[in-house]
Amino acid sequence: MRIVFVCLGNICRSPAAEGVFRALCTAAGRADRVDSAGTSDWHLGSPPYGEMVAAAAARGVDLSALRARRFTAEDFDSFDLIIAMDKQNVRDIERLRPPGNATPVQLLLDHAPGAATREVPDPYYTRDFETALDLIEAGARGLLAATG
Ligand code: 4NP
Repeated sequence: MRIVFVCLGNICRSPAAEGVFRALCTAAGRADRVDSAGTSDWHLGSPPYGEMVAAAAARGVDLSALRARRFTAEDFDSFDLIIAMDKQNVRDIERLRPPGNATPVQLLLDHAPGAATREVPDPYYTRDFETALDLIEAGARGLLAATG
């Protein structure tokens, strides 16, 4: 499948989701196309946030080569599934949907029904990178199973 993960800045949550999900795909022998993007243009071309790179590396996931880009209307045609980190992301994504396009937009934590929240709290503000990664891993595992 072609899956794009989306958050606000594309430097914390969605690059982490991209890296975690890609690692799960590789381990499962799947050749999905995996990408991420931000609804804002605040960090275009930047690598993921240093603390998130370090926290992911501690779990064996390398985010260092990723670079931020903005989510665009073309992404609706380039991907089979759009996975947002929070509900504001969903609203910002839907504003760009081309007429007639039916690509699903889902919350990552729709795929982690046991999680205590439906939205991944933004560690850029909470400073809690471990909780964000725990939730992202749970969602990514559920998403892998749902798209197998
Ligand atoms: P992200 O986190 O959406 O998970 O990448 C953010 C990163 C930066 C900012 C906001 C959210 N910012 O305001 O610069």
